Amino acid sequence: MPIASLFCTRIYQGHLSPRVRGELNAKLLRECRQLRLDDPAGRRWSRANYAGGYTSYASVNRMHRMSPTFARLERQLSSHVARLVRELSLDLRGRKLGMTDCWVNIMPRLVAHGSHLHPLSTISGTYYVQTPAGSPGLKFEDPRIARMMASPPRRASAAARSQTWVVMPARAGGFFLYESWLRHEVAANTGRGERISISFNYSWF
Ligand code: NI
Repeated sequence: MPIASLFCTRIYQGHLSPRVRGELNAKLLRECRQLRLDDPAGRRWSRANYAGGYTSYASVNRMHRMSPTFARLERQLSSHVARLVRELSLDLRGRKLGMTDCWVNIMPRLVAHGSHLHPLSTISGTYYVQTPAGSPGLKFEDPRIARMMASPPRRASAAARSQTWVVMPARAGGFFLYESWLRHEVAANTGRGERISISFNYSWF
């Protein structure tokens, strides 16, 4: 068909190499749980802002600087971030993208994470540490939605690239990278166990 697809939204879906995944992920899991025990300020903030769950977003949010294990995760992610930058054709003009924030999210059963974006950042993403059966994926929203004033809804059978919302499955050992302006959310965790993830931002220096 004589139709061009322009202004595409990229979502990088990767996973750690099998060689490092098992061992690194087991260490990350231990440290995520330990952080919740050691972070009363984060537990307090989560009670007010992340009902039923725990996040170190507002308390311990530079884990890549505090823990050698999280620093290893950062190193593992760097080549993938570079690939996304190339795919996006970002002209960094001699500057560099660097990880600025890195924090832990623990979602027990029925905890949800409302729709949001990551202001003041360039690339954001999440790595999945533990995703028991029933764990929700990451739901992305078409960034043009605010302009769709008289636009009809999309057919339920439409291809993912034509949907307004798309849920990408979250799997332990895997991660997503995307531009920080892309709105996303996590539906309530209907799994039996805790869904544990590590989120991060990269900024342009
Ligand atoms: Ni987010």
